Amino acid sequence: TTADVETLVEVAERAAREAGRLVHEGRPERVAVAATKTSPEDVVTAMDLASEELLRRRLAELRPHDGVLGEEEGYVPGTSGVTWVVDPIDGTVNYLYGRPAYAVSVAAVVGPAGAPDPATWTVVAGCVHAPADGRTFRAGRGLGATLDGRALQMEEPRPLPGCLVGTGFGYRAERRRAQARVLADLLPRVRDIRRTGSAALDLCNLAAGQLDLYYERGLGAWDLAAGLLVAQEAGALVTGLRGAAPGTAMTVAGWPARAAELVRLLEDLDADQDG
Ligand code: IPD
Repeated sequence: TTADVETLVEVAERAAREAGRLVHEGRPERVAVAATKTSPEDVVTAMDLASEELLRRRLAELRPHDGVLGEEEGYVPGTSGVTWVVDPIDGTVNYLYGRPAYAVSVAAVVGPAGAPDPATWTVVAGCVHAPADGRTFRAGRGLGATLDGRALQMEEPRPLPGCLVGTGFGYRAERRRAQARVLADLLPRVRDIRRTGSAALDLCNLAAGQLDLYYERGLGAWDLAAGLLVAQEAGALVTGLRGAAPGTAMTVAGWPARAAELVRLLEDLDADQDG
């Protein structure tokens, strides 16, 4: 029901804000360079773990019968049919460098038994909280999306050559070579490209009109869940290639007609293949 969805959105926001505070306030001043005792990467990993632990603790307290899937510690099933999909820090490289484009992403999903899968889940509530730039995106299925309480509604963008397109890259060399090849074909056909470094924020920025389109290959469920709902509730089509659901193989998001155009282009470029 609407009240149930509202409750899940409230829980998502409460958990995301609390973890956001921990991550933001706990970030050492010069984490990128102060590599005396441990490496900067270790500091980030430690904070990822601490943030996820806090999320799990708070969700267990507020929603003891729900499951949780997190980037760091995997899937713990529940009994209620609701599973929380959490990313304790989305945009870890930005976090490492003190760049503000990182966020805590918390979503509630329902679907078949087992670990949540973007091919079969329904995301019902989500919050993406970016503590360093002080923005909070919320969405409830059927209830719309907001940024800091203001309703988000996408507007029809310009034709593709005028579109600002967000994307991201995987971490492995072979995948990156394939992604660079796709980019080489796409870049001359659009206004410009942005690589923000947080998939969750890319989807939210799309909802807020700061991007016209977004696509990425290789997303994890935790990168995707909350941002997907924010984008959808703001009017975006979020889809995969060749009729697939959005997910690891490919996620494309944007104003429906424009997203469909980008899907066709990415299909022609075999953007879901490494070869
Ligand atoms: C990453 C970010 C990045 C995207 C990568 C993700 P992480 O998440 O969302 O924008 O391009 O695919 O893995 O590792 O910072 O949680």
